[in-house]
Amino acid sequence: METMSDVTIIKVEGLTKVFRTYRKEEGLLGAVRGLFHRRHTETKAADSVSFSVGEGEFVGFLGPNGAGKTTVLKMLSGLLQPTSGSARVLGLDPSRRPVELKRQFALLMGQKNALWWDLPARESLELNRAIYGIDRKQFESTVDELSELLDVRDNMGVMVRELSLGERMKMELIAALLHRPKVLFLDEPTIGLDVISQKKVREFLREYNRRHRVVTLLTSHYMQDIQELCERVILIDHGKIFFDGPLEEVTGRFTSTKVIGVDFSQPLPKSFIPPGTVLEKSPLSIKVEVARADVPQACTALLAASPVIDLSVEEVPIEEVIRRVFGGQQEIHRGESQP
Ligand SMILES: Nc1ncnc2c1ncn2[C@@H]1O[C@H](COP(=O)(O)OP(=O)(O)OP(=O)(O)O)[C@@H](O)[C@H]1O
Ligand SMILES: [Mg+2]
Repeated sequence: METMSDVTIIKVEGLTKVFRTYRKEEGLLGAVRGLFHRRHTETKAADSVSFSVGEGEFVGFLGPNGAGKTTVLKMLSGLLQPTSGSARVLGLDPSRRPVELKRQFALLMGQKNALWWDLPARESLELNRAIYGIDRKQFESTVDELSELLDVRDNMGVMVRELSLGERMKMELIAALLHRPKVLFLDEPTIGLDVISQKKVREFLREYNRRHRVVTLLTSHYMQDIQELCERVILIDHGKIFFDGPLEEVTGRFTSTKVIGVDFSQPLPKSFIPPGTVLEKSPLSIKVEVARADVPQACTALLAASPVIDLSVEEVPIEEVIRRVFGGQQEIHRGESQP
């Protein structure tokens, strides 16, 4: 998909990363044999990935475990050299690690921490200020604005190691934003957070993007993050992009069904055979999933079955669609369900 704005901030073309891992053979004989021909396996973690992101866009990067999301973000951040293909971030090549770029983007990884554990949060941020050479005034006003937005004002004096996971992630966000990057790569910023902290971080990201229009690429296994923040999503599996477009379009593209919900004023007759697949049923209501083409007939049948109070025709929830797209893998949730 082309970017939704005129100014291209990120441009990726045919980006490919092949990891070669050597497999040791077992036993002495294997070791000796290994001296002559090493056995290796190749993983195409990113396979000809191409996309562009325009000014102010907030794009969700979605895929099951091992899909290649982190690999792409690392290449865009200059932490990994691509095997082939090219990437431009703000017109610069991240693989050359240009200093101008370092000042203009940030990568936040939910599973890694960048702050110093043995310092109070405020001093840890102060160290980042010194490293990035950030002007004190800008530092003060940024920390002020962000700690207010994230509600961590009172935690500034606490040692980083003593912060809760949610508080620490909020501090990590402040650290990542200290130098006011124009581009933000967020790799699972809400992983492991409790529901309230997740919500807070989401609200913060939405507000921050609204205020500062930073281009953001977000990966998350929580569909709620994606649904609330990203208008556009890129779906990736086995290193390959197979969808890039508006989130709403995912439903149309990957499901051929719709969900009909009906409330009745009198119980359905026992003999009634509902159309399609029954998702939910109670004496006075029913929810069925039917093929798009069969929606009119199904509605007619339901309306005729018993007096109707309310009828709705809806798309299959995005969360469910995504689960089906990735082959029913529960991995998209990492085994935790969202309320
Ligand atoms: N340094 C590495 N050496 C070898 N293989 C790697 C390396 N880093 C990643 N891989 C492999 O590349 C593939 C893509 O990994 P990547 O971390 O990009 O996936 P991901 O989409 O971020 O997954 P997750 O949702 O679990 O974070 C995986 O098969 C992984 O095992
Ligand atoms: Mg990852």
